[in-house]
Amino acid sequence: MTPVTEVNPAVKLTERINRIEPSATMAVVAEADKLRQQGIDVVDFGAGEPHFATPQHVKDAAISAIQANFSKYTAVGGTAELKDAIVQRHAADFQSDYRREESIASVGGKHALFNAIQVLVEHGDEVILPVPYWVSFKDIVRYAGGNCVFLDSDEAQGFRVTAKMIECLVTPRTKLIILNSPSNPSGAVMSAEDLTEVVRLAAQRGIWVISDECYVYLDYTGRRFSVGSLREYRDRLLIVGSLSKTYAMTGWRLGYALGPAQIVSAMQKLQSQSTSNPTSFVQKAAIAALKGPQQCVEDMRLEYIQLRNHVVKGLRLISGIRCTLPEGAFYVYPNVSSFFGRGGVKSASDLAGRLLRDAHVATVPGEGFGTRDHIRVSYATSVAELDRGLERMRKFLGAL
Ligand SMILES: Cc1ncc(COP(=O)(O)O)c(C=O)c1O
Repeated sequence: MTPVTEVNPAVKLTERINRIEPSATMAVVAEADKLRQQGIDVVDFGAGEPHFATPQHVKDAAISAIQANFSKYTAVGGTAELKDAIVQRHAADFQSDYRREESIASVGGKHALFNAIQVLVEHGDEVILPVPYWVSFKDIVRYAGGNCVFLDSDEAQGFRVTAKMIECLVTPRTKLIILNSPSNPSGAVMSAEDLTEVVRLAAQRGIWVISDECYVYLDYTGRRFSVGSLREYRDRLLIVGSLSKTYAMTGWRLGYALGPAQIVSAMQKLQSQSTSNPTSFVQKAAIAALKGPQQCVEDMRLEYIQLRNHVVKGLRLISGIRCTLPEGAFYVYPNVSSFFGRGGVKSASDLAGRLLRDAHVATVPGEGFGTRDHIRVSYATSVAELDRGLERMRKFLGAL
């Protein structure tokens, strides 16, 4: 599904850019867009973003900031007001106590992650990555020269990852463990106990942990938890967060990191030589989001629970699909391996390709997330759209 670009052999690209691949999710979006441009009605289960609009008070704050000419450069890592809003929100929701110097605002959570990994991972370092993983972790680590050590999670137990499983992979070269709970793509949520065990193990072995909390507010267990509350392990811990999913602000590009001041300062140095500050008036909008009423976050969470229940029920009614119940984020990760060998379909990629081209339903094949037997279905859409897509899948898969 990778877009085809003409290659001029005379152009020598760097070794480091050749180490990474384009994002698998972006490739699906591009292919679905191409079909739409041909006038084809595609049901989109591929997108990794909320279907909600950004809350009105957040939009108003950005508009006011523009009108007030808040349009100059700001401090590289975000204004003091924004940093304070980030640490205060986290403290209120997760009982952490980060200081302003331990926070940085970046151009999305992905940017914060990129900076953090460039700062922490040296050539040849090993980074433990639970599978399935979010597509970008692997490529950002490789770009930094690190080697990913993949940890298979237990699908039968809802893709569970434990400290014991991680311990088996630790070597003297292990530098970092990346956790992502709730997970993109599986929707799995690690328990507070499992998370604490992993962070304790890492601290004992002198290994860094990056906890990607981009979906932490979309936790349906009712037991929202951040390792940032574990003050005794803070020396080796970096939290990455984002306003993208929490406040339906994917296009605004505002993420952050919380961690030791020395690391945050190094990330700031890197950011000073690349993007500089996140967009000035987006910072004002972010302050409104973080300090304003949080009911919008809860309303969206409750709606996602309804959508999750609806899509899982629908998928489980399709003969041949096996599907764990995701406990967070807005993805389901059904096992579709029973269709391999039918109608020329040999892999999840084949199946996702056929679903898109023949049934006009966009999903993302599991290979991009490190597993062969799954496709990712995003349910951040309306019930009517879910029903349309499920019906198309049922018909197509039934006829394979
Ligand atoms: C697990 C995970 N981390 C980080 C991000 C980055 O989000 P953003 O850069 O929009 O903040 C995403 C986006 O899909 C994600 O799924």
